[in-house]
Amino acid sequence: MTGSLEARLRTRFGGRTVVVTGGSRGIGAAAARMLGAAGADLVLLARDGAALESVAREVRAAGGTASVLPVELRDAVAAAETGRRIAAECSPPALVLANAGHSIHRSAGASVGRAHDAERTLATSYTGHVALLLELLPAMRAAGRGRVVASSTAALAVPAPGWAAYLAAKAALERWLRDVDAETRPDGVTLGSVRLPLVRTAMSAPTAAYAEARALTPEAAARMLLRASLGRRRLVQPWWGAAASLTAHLAPGLADGVARGWERRLAAAGKRG
Ligand SMILES: NC(=O)c1ccc[n+]([C@@H]2O[C@H](COP(=O)([O-])OP(=O)(O)OC[C@H]3O[C@@H](n4cnc5c(N)ncnc54)[C@H](OP(=O)(O)O)[C@@H]3O)[C@@H](O)[C@H]2O)c1
Repeated sequence: MTGSLEARLRTRFGGRTVVVTGGSRGIGAAAARMLGAAGADLVLLARDGAALESVAREVRAAGGTASVLPVELRDAVAAAETGRRIAAECSPPALVLANAGHSIHRSAGASVGRAHDAERTLATSYTGHVALLLELLPAMRAAGRGRVVASSTAALAVPAPGWAAYLAAKAALERWLRDVDAETRPDGVTLGSVRLPLVRTAMSAPTAAYAEARALTPEAAARMLLRASLGRRRLVQPWWGAAASLTAHLAPGLADGVARGWERRLAAAGKRG
């Protein structure tokens, strides 16, 4: 981590409660290590308690503070209960990284009889986070400050055949945050989404075509999230994400053609891989 980023994180989040969902591996674990090094009082959420504890041990070994709360975010009741527990036991979060997610790559044709794919992605990325945040936001608003940053994806800028269940869930969370931000911003609590490009983690590993593609490290992606955490923007994306979004808007047929070509490459690489 660059010295200046660590210093800014320390000033903003040192000694304050920071909640990271999906803190057990990948981008969330990388962000947790950086926030821990900057002195944040971390609360790490994911399903796998042992993996969470291992990240928390690393944070503590580096002089940081971390506790773990294993939770299945697909269970909205459990997610809300976890939010209530954090609100009762911790100071109002200065930052919530809504980072946990589950991706599925499956065409509509191959998804017949599999409506549960949509339920799984929606419940992880959207409903679970909404249930958690609804319990945390009142204390943050009462404190008059706080930031929520979601790990979204640059793929939302363009049509992406095969990724509908995953991307619809990501879009739902982005939209919810955008609308709630308009309610909470006057109280000093800002909500935003970061559209990350491809990142080399357990999530992207099963897609064979991504093995050769340019991808960020989890640490580089975590830095994107953390820079956004220090700011107040509603949406952060790579410059090419905005350009792709505009192109898809102005020339939707062209965007569909490019997306279908890309999907064919993914399918061919999947058969080879
Ligand atoms: N990798 C990419 O290329 C990429 C690109 C753009 C955006 N993103 C987004 O970035 C975020 C992090 O992705 P990643 O690449 O670091 O993925 P990852 O390595 O698969 O990590 C996902 C994290 O989410 C947790 N999680 C998954 N399902 C959960 C559930 N039902 N309840 C609670 N926690 C759950 C996982 O822990 P447990 O399994 O222990 O629960 C894990 O900590 C995701 O939201 C993803 O959509 C990733």
